[in-house]
Amino acid sequence: MNINLLSANPLKHPAPALVIGCFEDHRDELFVACDAALDGCLGRLATDREFSGKADSCRLIHTLGKLPAERLLLVGLGKKDELNEERLRQAAGNAVQALRSARVASFATALHLAGARESALEAVCEGTLLGSYHFDQYKTKDRDERFSFERMTLLLPKGITVKEGRARADRTMALCQGVSLARDLVSHPGNVATTGYLAETARELAARHALVCRVMEMDELKQLGMNALVAVGKGSAEPPRLIVLEYKGAGDKERPVVLIGKGITFDSGGISIKPGAGMEEMKTDMSGGAAVLGAMEVAAALKLPVNLVVIIPTAENMPDGMAYKPGDVITSLSGQTIEITNTDAEGRLVLCDALHYAQTTYKPTAMIDLATLTGACVVALGHEASGLMGNNPRLIDRLKRAGERCGERVWELPLWDAYGEVMKSDIADLKNAGSRDGGSITAGWFLKQFVGKTHWAHLDIAGTAWGDKNRPCSPKGATGVGVRLLIEFLGAYRT
Ligand code: BES
Ligand code: MN
Ligand code: ZN
Repeated sequence: MNINLLSANPLKHPAPALVIGCFEDHRDELFVACDAALDGCLGRLATDREFSGKADSCRLIHTLGKLPAERLLLVGLGKKDELNEERLRQAAGNAVQALRSARVASFATALHLAGARESALEAVCEGTLLGSYHFDQYKTKDRDERFSFERMTLLLPKGITVKEGRARADRTMALCQGVSLARDLVSHPGNVATTGYLAETARELAARHALVCRVMEMDELKQLGMNALVAVGKGSAEPPRLIVLEYKGAGDKERPVVLIGKGITFDSGGISIKPGAGMEEMKTDMSGGAAVLGAMEVAAALKLPVNLVVIIPTAENMPDGMAYKPGDVITSLSGQTIEITNTDAEGRLVLCDALHYAQTTYKPTAMIDLATLTGACVVALGHEASGLMGNNPRLIDRLKRAGERCGERVWELPLWDAYGEVMKSDIADLKNAGSRDGGSITAGWFLKQFVGKTHWAHLDIAGTAWGDKNRPCSPKGATGVGVRLLIEFLGAYRT
């Protein structure tokens, strides 16, 4: 979708549709003017309780020539003093989904006029772009009837110049492009989004933004001693890889922030195979990898003043004659030995080598991993928040605040030593799976054993990377969770 900017009066601007925000408990100037132009139709909708301005509600009406805009889309904003950026994003997301249902491809919006001058424009752009996402690359039927958006025109108030508005809209478009990249990668099926495909995507990103890209293949992984990553990947015809991208936005001297994303392109469970029902969802097990690629795309596009390294340990977890087995003992890159008690606890294995590699190679100021790591996290937090763990209160706090600001919520879980008891093995240093109890935390505790003193945080996105229902800013399917959180975090980052 293109975004246009225009200093214009919403009441005088012709468009297929005009979007305006409506409060539950307040009628602003624009609402009153529209109501007057429509002979009191809006007031009537309110008294008849057909549309009351509640958050998460919309109402599309035809103007029948009484306004230059052919249609008016009323978008509920709730109570005036409760309006915040997230509410506005969601209103914009709801609006664009209503316009999709009505097949209105171009529209003008005045929604941002209801919010704060400093932030409303971004919120409306963001909600619109996120809410209009659609993935239909594999549909071959009814091509001509397919709908796609053409243009949103932001009607600017007096206080904002087109130039300023353009810069702010462009930044938001770059952000949402990163989210869309992550969503696309997750949406693609496992036979397309293979480890090689992720590597190719990283190479393209590198070419586009002049980044350094390195992809380590099987031979090199073995040579380096990344045996945990190799073990997980060796049962698949699609070889495991370690993908590395480097971006320098803060010069040569500054130590980087490293982002690590779990890149299991399909998780069958391996020899400890998963039940068949719902297994198809395990194509999303590379959502962490997708998120860090999306974040890298945005950071480079916005030229953020940080040094950033992205690392994706990627593999396909499959059962096979070559596959790793329960009972196997592996020597990880760190030298610590791991007894495999469940081949379905593969995420922590690919991550433990990546974490060790990251901290020894880059001496990062902070290291954040994102992973669809445990079903237990879905049980604990559902789909509303990602699980957050780590070893540094300040880093944890920054991530919490970034989550609040951008609307991608996180919730901290403890990582006390006592949780580690169940991860001790009789034969090796660690085992890769303990009991089911506290499953997200024991997984986090396992990762912690490979981190040392580096400031580190772990985000379990198993419940937030994929949605079974439409949400205002995230239609059913891949959410791209993590991209906005990381960019919000990095945007506020000073060592
Ligand atoms: N990829 C799964 C976790 C997952 C579950 C992600 C549901 C998204 C939705 C992970 O590799 C896994 O299989 N974890 C096991 C760990 C267990 C064997 C210790 C789990 O959660 O059951
Ligand atoms: Mn698994
Ligand atoms: Zn997995």
